[in-house]
Amino acid sequence: MSPALGILGAGRVGTAIARQALRTGHDVAIAASGDPADIDLIVEVMAPGARAVTAAEAARTGDLVVLAVPLRRYATLDPDMLAGRVVVDAMNYWAETDGHIPALGVARSSSEMVADHLPGARLVKTLNHIGYHELETDHAPAGTPDRRALAVAGDDGAARAGVLELIERLGFDAVDAGPLAAGVALEPGTEIFTGRHDRRALERLLERADAAQPTR
Ligand SMILES: NC(=O)c1ccc[n+]([C@@H]2O[C@H](COP(=O)([O-])OP(=O)(O)OC[C@H]3O[C@@H](n4cnc5c(N)ncnc54)[C@H](OP(=O)(O)O)[C@@H]3O)[C@@H](O)[C@H]2O)c1
Repeated sequence: MSPALGILGAGRVGTAIARQALRTGHDVAIAASGDPADIDLIVEVMAPGARAVTAAEAARTGDLVVLAVPLRRYATLDPDMLAGRVVVDAMNYWAETDGHIPALGVARSSSEMVADHLPGARLVKTLNHIGYHELETDHAPAGTPDRRALAVAGDDGAARAGVLELIERLGFDAVDAGPLAAGVALEPGTEIFTGRHDRRALERLLERADAAQPTR
């Protein structure tokens, strides 16, 4: 059975992920920051079949919980609510809209900063390096030549494995990128972020990024 998805963020990305998850048989609960009644209509139109719920309920009921909120709002995510949960970080840092975030260090993945804020969460980074509209247009059945690949980075092996399965079910080749710190190779400005890659190309780019990584 497909795991239930809880999605935090009912904007472009949250509703696009919800549609694809619903298409592939997942139960989806989606939340914004306030009263679920405020997003009832958005959810009904943009992700019919998903349930509009509170953030706490999305976190509680999702086997996997997706973060699809602007990165500048990361500190509003409740660490207690996400403790012990497998959490998919689909967020990106955009200085123009997110402003300066002091906790973001140089050469550090934004997901490492998010992990510091959510110490109990089993954080996995993926779905950040595909446009929300491409989730709709680029999915394909397994075995399709040149099927688009998405990378998955996280420190918890079992959580990463669950998310790799999710990516495959959504219609993409899932590539294991290793630890969360490796997620820096999937962020805005990188070749992985700006392009569309199949499995071989993505694996090659990850290897190259790993070789270029300074030892920390
Ligand atoms: N645009 C893309 O193609 C793309 C692709 C991959 C990843 N991303 C990343 O995905 C993230 C979301 O982008 P977006 O374009 O979907 O943003 P968006 O359209 O502005 O939507 C943001 C959503 O997050 C909600 N939110 C804010 N704080 C929250 C909280 N604490 N708990 C629950 N919900 C909360 C907002 O609800 P309220 O209105 O109630 O605050 C809103 O529903 C960003 O980090 C972006 O960089 C974007």
